[in-house]
Amino acid sequence: MRLRTQLLVINAASIALLIAAVVASHRMMLLNLSQEHLLTIITVSAGVLSSVAYWVMTIPISNSVKRLIGFAEQVGEGQLEDGPIHQSGPYEVRQLTRSVQEMKERMQSNLHQLEIMEKTRRELIANVSHDLRTPIASIQSFVEALQDGVIDDYETSQAYLRTIHREARRLNSLIDDLFELSKLEAGQEAFHPVPSHLDQMIIEVLDSYSVRIHEKMLRVHVSVSDDIPVLHLMPEKISRVLNNLVDNAVRHSPENGLLEIEVRMSSRADFVEVMIRDEAEGVSGEDVKRVFERFYRVDKSRNRGSGGSGLGLAIARSLVELHGGTIGVRIPSGKSQGSEFWFTLPVYRG
Ligand SMILES: Nc1ncnc2c1ncn2[C@@H]1O[C@H](COP(=O)(O)OP(=O)(O)OP(=O)(O)O)[C@@H](O)[C@H]1O
Ligand SMILES: [Mg+2]
Repeated sequence: MRLRTQLLVINAASIALLIAAVVASHRMMLLNLSQEHLLTIITVSAGVLSSVAYWVMTIPISNSVKRLIGFAEQVGEGQLEDGPIHQSGPYEVRQLTRSVQEMKERMQSNLHQLEIMEKTRRELIANVSHDLRTPIASIQSFVEALQDGVIDDYETSQAYLRTIHREARRLNSLIDDLFELSKLEAGQEAFHPVPSHLDQMIIEVLDSYSVRIHEKMLRVHVSVSDDIPVLHLMPEKISRVLNNLVDNAVRHSPENGLLEIEVRMSSRADFVEVMIRDEAEGVSGEDVKRVFERFYRVDKSRNRGSGGSGLGLAIARSLVELHGGTIGVRIPSGKSQGSEFWFTLPVYRG
């Protein structure tokens, strides 16, 4: 039975009981006839009034409940896009509607998050497959050519073997990067810092790029301010960050370009800031945020000449965050071209 009908039946029953009591009182000579009439009229009028009041008061309650039922049915059908649920009726009903509205908004945002995660997962699988398939296909075709015996001169077969070796190395480093990133994202990378000298690490990284720097005739400036303390960090991890930032800067720099590395105390107390500036095409707009996403490359064709897999900066970000620092990119101040990749590292004061 509906709520409204139930209330009306209970009201009618209590009026009938009151009238029966008035009639019984008259029979038992407790009331005279005119008193009986007066009390009956009052009881019937009160009954009519309360029935009308019940009827009117239950309209907003019943409308709100209908709206909530409609909402529950929509959720059941997977529709969450409609606007806010109209709130009316007594305080408790409006509060219930508000709670349901909040639940709907949370469900909308969770659904949106799930959609983004699903899209990211699909992109990740597509990118991993693409980047794994390319070197494998290349290795396969060179091995087949060597097996077929169509290559009879020594020089060509050596060139083929070198390509196979290079592609196998590329595959290996991609798998290493994926493994490192998944360990970092799962929080499984242990943090064992040791006292380290940043300037020493910068020299070693630059040393390993000396041939490419020379080939591109890059001008390199390094400046490390005097007040940089010994830092507590994992040297091989921070070297990996520096390595990727220098690798990117060297790869993207034009010939004769200027490559600057600066280390100074950050304006935020107890942090050291490292900056790597170049005169390349720079990173702008939406790319500023997205370059740190795994597999993100500005060059959407994923041309292997202009970049790697797009994992380097994602790994760098996770490693810097593991050390309690932050990383970003901006346009170098006072310049209209190039980019300045920066990261901070906390100073440990034991
Ligand atoms: N110094 C830079 N100048 C211009 N663009 C850059 C620079 N550094 C990075 N980028 C852009 O950001 C993208 C992501 O960089 P990231 O280091 O993550 O990947 P990658 O260098 O392409 O590959 P990987 O580092 O995995 O070998 C690059 O593909 C490039 O488009
Ligand atoms: Mg890189």
